[in-house]
Amino acid sequence: MEKKLIYEGKAKCIYEIIGRENIYLQEFKDDATAFNGEKKQSVAGKGALNNSISAILFEYLRSKGVNSHFIERVSDTGMLVRPLKIIKVEVVCRNIAAGSLVRKFGFSEAAELSKPLIEYYYKSDEFGDPLFTLAHIEEMKIANVNEMKKIDAVTLEVNLHLKKFFSDHGIKLVDFKLEFGYDSNGEIVLADEISPDTCRLWDLESGKKLDKDNFRFGLGNIAETYVEILDKIRK
Ligand code: TMP
Repeated sequence: MEKKLIYEGKAKCIYEIIGRENIYLQEFKDDATAFNGEKKQSVAGKGALNNSISAILFEYLRSKGVNSHFIERVSDTGMLVRPLKIIKVEVVCRNIAAGSLVRKFGFSEAAELSKPLIEYYYKSDEFGDPLFTLAHIEEMKIANVNEMKKIDAVTLEVNLHLKKFFSDHGIKLVDFKLEFGYDSNGEIVLADEISPDTCRLWDLESGKKLDKDNFRFGLGNIAETYVEILDKIRK
């Protein structure tokens, strides 16, 4: 397959496939980064694990009627996706207090929230992905109110499906980050990846952290815990 790099992010590359229209290849890298790239390390096998886990989750969502850019997994580290124009908003949805909710607002770690809490972050390495509001998104002409309503609705739907999926496989979905883009018809479509890099996932019984927090805070080897997740969700 002849391909041309069109975008390189911290964890993935997107390629155009020469001779194929309306299809991109999304390749997962072994690089792990945290704190806006300040901490960086290569973790052997991470790309393949995130590709497999994302493919399973996107397939599950598709079976529930939630479409995304995902078409199919085509190699250890690659999946075919639909080309999208990415909306520069990282949408975080939280069920349980952790991470920046604890750090910035004083929530007790592991406290159940009364309902899913959605936050928006400006997707900008230059500005360090700051928390921002619907008013900023409108003013900066990133998306309009109706588009953000649709994004919220899809995010809550994804949350319901993934919470159930993970809990059926012995995992608690604490929080996660989604990205969206416009397809060629201007429709909003779920994009990016859904993986232990972008979700907080705790073992339902032991409470053990199975996600990227192990890398962020030097708690353990993420390749090992990501294998645990893949084993659990394959069952
Ligand atoms: P936070 O508690 O650090 O704000 O993270 C909330 C969720 O978003 C967590 O599941 C990890 C995910 N996340 C990303 O996917 N990318 C990021 O750059 C950050 C900061 C968080």
